[in-house]
Amino acid sequence: MSKKIGVLTGGGDCPGLNAVIRAVVKTAIIRFNYEVIGFEDGYLGLIENRWRKLDYEAASGILTAGGTILGTSNKANPFQFWQRDDKGEYFSTDESQKVLKIYQDLGLEALVCIGGDGTFTIADGLQKLGMNVVGIPKTIDNDIFGTDQTFGFDTAVNTITDAVDKIHTTAMAHKRAMVIEVMGRNAGWLALMAGVAGGADLILLPEIEYDIEAICRRVHDRSQLGKKFTIVVVAEGAKPKAGEQVVDRVVKDSPDPIRLGGVGKVIANQIEEITGIETRITVLGHLQRGGSPSPLDRVLCTIFGEKAVQMIHNQEFGKWVCWRNGKAETEDLTYAAGRQRLVPLDHPLIEVARSVGVRFGNEIN
Ligand code: F6P
Repeated sequence: MSKKIGVLTGGGDCPGLNAVIRAVVKTAIIRFNYEVIGFEDGYLGLIENRWRKLDYEAASGILTAGGTILGTSNKANPFQFWQRDDKGEYFSTDESQKVLKIYQDLGLEALVCIGGDGTFTIADGLQKLGMNVVGIPKTIDNDIFGTDQTFGFDTAVNTITDAVDKIHTTAMAHKRAMVIEVMGRNAGWLALMAGVAGGADLILLPEIEYDIEAICRRVHDRSQLGKKFTIVVVAEGAKPKAGEQVVDRVVKDSPDPIRLGGVGKVIANQIEEITGIETRITVLGHLQRGGSPSPLDRVLCTIFGEKAVQMIHNQEFGKWVCWRNGKAETEDLTYAAGRQRLVPLDHPLIEVARSVGVRFGNEIN
């Protein structure tokens, strides 16, 4: 009898999830003759025993599709499953034993969990409970500690760069300052890469506290130099000197409840008020998580999915696939827990950007 493996996509979606599912399913079938089932809506489907068989057909034609054919959830944690009672009050239950029984009753050899640090922490708990788990790192934020790159990041950088290019033209036409707020949580990778690629004049990262005076001086100086517009790319996690990040909302039933957002508007208002230059804000939001994965992401997804199934074949459980020095390696599921991969202040791209005139909002002059 052939072995059976499960796969799920957890946390926020990103481009390339389907490309990974495809690689997992095809490798499992072609190389090892495994059966594959997919749990729906991340860990929620595991808790509720909702799954479907993923045969070769199911994995065909999905390489280029955004989203995830399985659905995802960034709320369902089997160890602390939040629900609401009749009065709308929140309460949580431990569903982990139920999940273990579902795994055992299905006769699964292993479970592939595609997700971020939150998904890996839960995956580690399931591994310790007696399941065989393998992880694959996804997120547009590129902030998972222990991997040089996550899939989804490159596509998001392309999307943001395209937006910055378009905003450039309207900025020039109207001679305005344009602030573009991008995602990334506490990491500035998206802002840095897309800011440089899009030719931003100011790039504000969570890792470098900004000084609104320095920003306004730059905007003003540009106008004095005859540059009638300024492009500011700001990461949602950016914060002012000795100030706080702007929180958009707190999602009660999520393992990672803080949602950042709104700093772009604050900065745009301040620029307009202080410099007198007309300023507009564009928040790119979830647009950054959509669309067809870039060629680079498709390749990364294919390598990651294939590697995960190889790990199952080699009985290498309790680990996730990571990307180091241009090749797929493995790391313990606990490795990324409680750590974030932030932009180091001595990252070479920061210096390169400064050399071509980009400012990071903290410059004295
Ligand atoms: O982690 C991916 C991400 O898109 C972050 O960049 C952003 O802060 C967050 O998810 C948004 O989460 P939600 O989809 O729950 O609003």
